[in-house]
Amino acid sequence: MKKILILNGPNLNLLGKREPEIYGNIGFEACLRQLQEEFRQRADISYFQSNHEGALIDKLHETGFEYDGIVLNAGAYTHTSVALADAIKAITAPVIEVHISNVHAREDFRRHSYLSPVCKGVICGFGLDSYKLAIIALLGGE
Ligand code: DQA
Repeated sequence: MKKILILNGPNLNLLGKREPEIYGNIGFEACLRQLQEEFRQRADISYFQSNHEGALIDKLHETGFEYDGIVLNAGAYTHTSVALADAIKAITAPVIEVHISNVHAREDFRRHSYLSPVCKGVICGFGLDSYKLAIIALLGGE
């Protein structure tokens, strides 16, 4: 059984309500329940969301030496946060960067990520399935 954390950053608590034409109209709780059910035999999936950069860093420190993998959607901090990049570098758990939207098809500022170079891989543009694909990658591609 692998221990996996899904870590969501700012404004992702508003999934389902926020810009539904970009992020869809399903809240994250429903997605989480579905993932926990689907992977129940292979992964123990926990979840944390915060709108605060420091809280996300604290969570990375807390889980990053113990968990088997972290699925991180850092929201807009992806494009701004050297501190989150340093935290990912500091821990031992592999981190997969995910985005619901295709950040390369949007505004220019979303094309740069401070996190991509220090993550194991990046998945973006598949809606909420981006999280599922990241979990599959952490479980070894099955
Ligand atoms: C996002 C993309 C980011 O650019 C944006 O700031 C978000 C969500 C995504 O999941 O598509 O908050 O990470």
